[in-house]
Amino acid sequence: MTPISPLPLSSSASPRLQGTVRVPGDKSVSHRALMLGALAVGETTVEGLLEGDDVLATAAAMRAMGAKAERGQDGVWRLWGRGVGGLTEPETLLDMGNAGTGMRLVMGLVASHPFTAFFTGDASLCRRPMKRVAEPLERMGARVLARSGSRPPLAVAGTDAPLPIVYELPVASAQVKSAILLAGLNTPGTTTVIEPEPTRDHSERMLRHFGAKVDVGPGPRGGRAITLHGFPELTGRHILVPADPSSAAFPAVAALIVPESEITLPNVGTNPLRFGLYETLREMGADIQLTNAREMSGEPVADLVVRSCRLKGVTVPPERAPSMIDEYPILAVAAAFAEGTTRMMGLKELKVKESDRLTAMANGLAKAGVAVEVEGDDLIVHGLGAPQGGALIEANLDHRIAMSFLVLGLASRQPMRIDDGRAIATSFPGFVELMNGLGAKITEDGPQASSGMAKRDSE
Ligand code: S3P
Repeated sequence: MTPISPLPLSSSASPRLQGTVRVPGDKSVSHRALMLGALAVGETTVEGLLEGDDVLATAAAMRAMGAKAERGQDGVWRLWGRGVGGLTEPETLLDMGNAGTGMRLVMGLVASHPFTAFFTGDASLCRRPMKRVAEPLERMGARVLARSGSRPPLAVAGTDAPLPIVYELPVASAQVKSAILLAGLNTPGTTTVIEPEPTRDHSERMLRHFGAKVDVGPGPRGGRAITLHGFPELTGRHILVPADPSSAAFPAVAALIVPESEITLPNVGTNPLRFGLYETLREMGADIQLTNAREMSGEPVADLVVRSCRLKGVTVPPERAPSMIDEYPILAVAAAFAEGTTRMMGLKELKVKESDRLTAMANGLAKAGVAVEVEGDDLIVHGLGAPQGGALIEANLDHRIAMSFLVLGLASRQPMRIDDGRAIATSFPGFVELMNGLGAKITEDGPQASSGMAKRDSE
């Protein structure tokens, strides 16, 4: 459970990182496993589920709508689903915490059930726009009543006569695509989502794994058309959740920038629609090797071996954004240590994540002494070797901002500090212990860090 009072954390230069560590299960896959398990007939078992706050909120929502979801002593989750269309009206508010994925996908599930559900979340989630999912779900016949700017708290009144739609996504968003496909499960005929650029396809893969028919073909203007056939019989399955490549990114970049490091990260998801960061790091000259490539429950995985090395600046094209959307904060940290300039293009979507990550990274890096610019939707980082560091960063309930700046502090000249690390538990419970197990120096508001900070903050 996340502590009630703020959790200030500091990180300081580490001699080297070494060892083998298992990062927690994939957040995207974990949410979907719980949701499809809640709709399947029979028992679904999930091994390696991410037990972060975001996913636990989804588990609670599934229980509130009639499914059984329990964690066994062995760490395996067991679900007994209600069958497609069988969810029941929740008696209480669904509190999705910090989770945009949880809220948007569950909104999709509710949209094609004949009941109303009320949703809320933390201060970060209640700032995030929901129009992008409300709009297509309303076309299917649901009604969504939200605060101004289409923000939570909100209510979704599902329909008993959902309409199948063909919907072209205005933004490349796997969350919106998935919300529509999940609504399409309890909808007659076929529901089609056209995406301008391919986004992570965990929903498509897992829907098939549970027995649904999903066709993927070319879209009208490039892109892809994904068609789900309504009223499938979903059958309980066993799911092995890969380690989250978005979480693995933090120890991986840490190992690249802390000299003399070598770490191994087993079972990391290598789905090509999630792997843009690793492709980019390799272009920057990173020494990252993939071994033992195989499949786990319909998802490709491999063991990652990462060794520290010199990085060089690159240009990251905008079309790569969907495959690494959550990884720009940690890429920007890697870029700060690279030789030369890194230009990350087309980052508009970063502004509507758990915080405005474009601004958070630009401001935070500047505070840490890195030369950084924002040009339109592009983030430009001029690498320096080891940056000065010595800054206090406000995490603003954003787990990835918190972890990124802690990683920066492992190799900057002065320690880094974040005001509150509680949000880290949404996606990466045990982050501090895992990093310190590799040799990192992350402490609860260490005194060494505070003295370094005071000097820099007063500059
Ligand atoms: C996710 C999709 C992405 C990503 C989020 C998880 C998912 O959001 O940022 O962390 O599981 O579908 P968008 O689809 O809104 O870009």
